[in-house]
Amino acid sequence: MRLNENTVIFGDRVLLVPYRAEHVPTYHEWMKSPELLELTASEPLSFEEELEMQRKWHLDEDKLTFILLARPEICSSPNKSMTPEEIRRCKMIGDVNLFLPDGLAGQGECEIMIASKDDRRKGYAVEALQLFLRHLAQHLPLDPLQLIVKIASANIPSIKLFQTLGFGIVKHVKVFDEVEMHYAKPDDADILADLNLDSKRPARDGPKAIWEEIDLQGRIGMYYP
Ligand SMILES: CC(C)(COP(=O)(O)OP(=O)(O)OC[C@H]1O[C@@H](n2cnc3c(N)ncnc32)[C@H](O)[C@@H]1OP(=O)(O)O)[C@@H](O)C(=O)NCCC(=O)NCCS
Repeated sequence: MRLNENTVIFGDRVLLVPYRAEHVPTYHEWMKSPELLELTASEPLSFEEELEMQRKWHLDEDKLTFILLARPEICSSPNKSMTPEEIRRCKMIGDVNLFLPDGLAGQGECEIMIASKDDRRKGYAVEALQLFLRHLAQHLPLDPLQLIVKIASANIPSIKLFQTLGFGIVKHVKVFDEVEMHYAKPDDADILADLNLDSKRPARDGPKAIWEEIDLQGRIGMYYP
């Protein structure tokens, strides 16, 4: 989607920048990993195919993608912005996507990946999603109730992550062995029991769940690398 082609979103520990050709070599290296291919339900692509995919994602009106970069250190100052030169030096750690198979009136499927195990459990995904979801609600705009995520039933880290952000498990699609989670819906108790999932949810009423109230003022910049 061209909506975000010049947008950067500044978090305290993570930056969201548009997916551009210069990101493809690293992205292509990541997607050689069988673990990531499986967890993101992706097919292996050649470098040329990956480049073509990046071009397509940029233009397709049904996809919105940001690359995630780690800030060198956590930024606690109210001024979150960075110069293009500083942004270029940040480490690429993952991506976050929205897919709109039925356009803006239909469901919006979210997906996130923090590629390296070394970069996980540092709060990058939760912060990136808080900013991303808030950006979608404000700028597409998309009603948060349209947001869903499809996750392999065994992918506990991802299920917990989306529960933290206020998504609930509403469906178990047995043929794909995946669960569907919808924003602002409670977990279906029968599915939790069937899948032997922990019925104790991560805290929902903490700051992670109230991403709808995040103020993006001062966190959005223009990106012209
Ligand atoms: C799922 C994934 C995106 C989580 O990223 P992350 O940066 O490690 O997540 P965060 O550090 O922001 O964690 C946020 C919350 O998610 C949950 N979580 C994340 N990893 C978890 C794990 N290994 N076990 C249990 N809960 C986990 C926790 O509730 C955590 O909050 P806490 O740290 O306060 O307990 C990451 O593991 C990943 O990219 N996996 C491979 C690709 C994938 O599965 N993508 C999802 C497809 S939709």
